[in-house]
Amino acid sequence: MQDLLKVAIPKGRIVKHIHRLFQGAGLPLPEDLDDSRKFIIPVPEMGMEFIVAKPADVPTYVEYGVADIGIAGKDVMMEENRNVYELLDLGIARCRFSVIGLPDWMPSANPRVASKFPNVASQYFREKGQQVEVIKLNGNVELAPLIGLADRIVDLVETGNTIRENGLVELEKIADITSRLIANRVSYRMKNGAVQLLCDRLQDAITQSAAGGR
Ligand code: PRP
Repeated sequence: MQDLLKVAIPKGRIVKHIHRLFQGAGLPLPEDLDDSRKFIIPVPEMGMEFIVAKPADVPTYVEYGVADIGIAGKDVMMEENRNVYELLDLGIARCRFSVIGLPDWMPSANPRVASKFPNVASQYFREKGQQVEVIKLNGNVELAPLIGLADRIVDLVETGNTIRENGLVELEKIADITSRLIANRVSYRMKNGAVQLLCDRLQDAITQSAAGGR
């Protein structure tokens, strides 16, 4: 039986970007990648099997080798700090990590920061030498300063619509974020031909799309 390259693909709003990128690389993905409740989608004609994952879980699957490669946001990579190779900056799903608060935010004696990314938030303030209590939330983090749970949040900003609609402002940028192609360290050696081929095709598609966008 053919040994398929196992590719972990994140669900959600990034999927449309991944479809476009793979299409540009001459590797059209199955249409139903994100709509079905089927989480393992073998495509033998591509030599690949897609594993549909929650974005934050992609680096875990890749580190443990249940996926050979995966697509993960730099945000998730920074938060999870998994032992994987980062092969390629795919340049998609561009956004940024920022510290966000109310426009009249003032430093307080017991600062609290809410985030879906507690490790990123803790590290950022630790490196700045600022003591803060970090509160982990699972979504709608923008609520936290509005209801007095925290005085600031660390979150992703893409269009800026969510913070604007909630009357919040970006106070500091932490990092620019894009999606990355990552690989399991053993798979990278054992399946190097297939991994390298995919990498090269995606790199060509990225270069072409950058040239087209100029
Ligand atoms: C992300 C992020 C912000 C929003 C930013 O949340 O946490 O809330 O998108 O995007 P914008 O700048 O384009 O408005 P997501 O939609 O993934 O949902 P969640 O808050 O439920 O995690």
